[in-house]
Amino acid sequence: MSTPAVPDRKPMTLHRLRDMHAKGEKITMLTAYDATFARLVDDAGVDTILVGDSLGMLVQGHSSTVPVSIEDMVYHTRCVARGNRTAWVVGDLPFGSYQESREQALRSSVALMQAGAHMVKLEGGGWTAETVHFLTERGIPVCAHLGLTPQSVHALGGYRIQGRDEAGAQTLRKHAKELADAGAAMMVLELMPSAVARDVQADNPGVMTIGIGAGQGTAGQVLVLHDMLHVTRGKLPRFVRNFMAEGGSVEDAVRRYVAAVKDGSFPDEAVHAY
Ligand code: KIV
Repeated sequence: MSTPAVPDRKPMTLHRLRDMHAKGEKITMLTAYDATFARLVDDAGVDTILVGDSLGMLVQGHSSTVPVSIEDMVYHTRCVARGNRTAWVVGDLPFGSYQESREQALRSSVALMQAGAHMVKLEGGGWTAETVHFLTERGIPVCAHLGLTPQSVHALGGYRIQGRDEAGAQTLRKHAKELADAGAAMMVLELMPSAVARDVQADNPGVMTIGIGAGQGTAGQVLVLHDMLHVTRGKLPRFVRNFMAEGGSVEDAVRRYVAAVKDGSFPDEAVHAY
């Protein structure tokens, strides 16, 4: 394994992430699904690792995230936790592991936390606020996820930009407020106009919004590792930048991503936003 970017980096905590956010320092997040890449992105200085259910497509070869099970997520979270040393680990609750009841969500979250996650992520707004409240009251930090929520791809009719019209934007803002009030500490905002993401952050200053295809105005950014390394087949969305083309190695590409998010040069509103 290579030398860490920040040799004596202390393990990331929710308190430190909040502190970074309060000071206006951008938060970096990348996905990882195994120990090798977890160590690599941690060494390259990424603040937070998302063990995303996107592994259903990238690791398991499915056409969506829908088939991923809680057992799959526990396995990959364990792998990531073994490789990681300092980054904050967010474990994704997969489709069907939290929709049934608050109790089911708690059981699934406990399984991810015991596998090594520091926080769990769940998709959607409205009914999820009650679940978020239930989990946070029980000591589980929660990252919400609004906008394009891939587990609902069949209900949404495809991977489309959300909140484009005023009614859609209003619903997103309402759901974000409810989730913030319920205790969500972090919120992924996926595929929405920059103006809507900016409003969500402004309405909920204490929440760390993490954008993906949501422009410059969020507290941090996330990309799927395979996308920013351009090893994913097929057409990549507009919001992805090929950091591998700029770097001489995978680790260099990740370092460039961290630097670009921190200095605000990624995403570029003119190129990667809607
Ligand atoms: O599963 C995942 O990788 C995600 C990101 C796209 C945010 O949810």
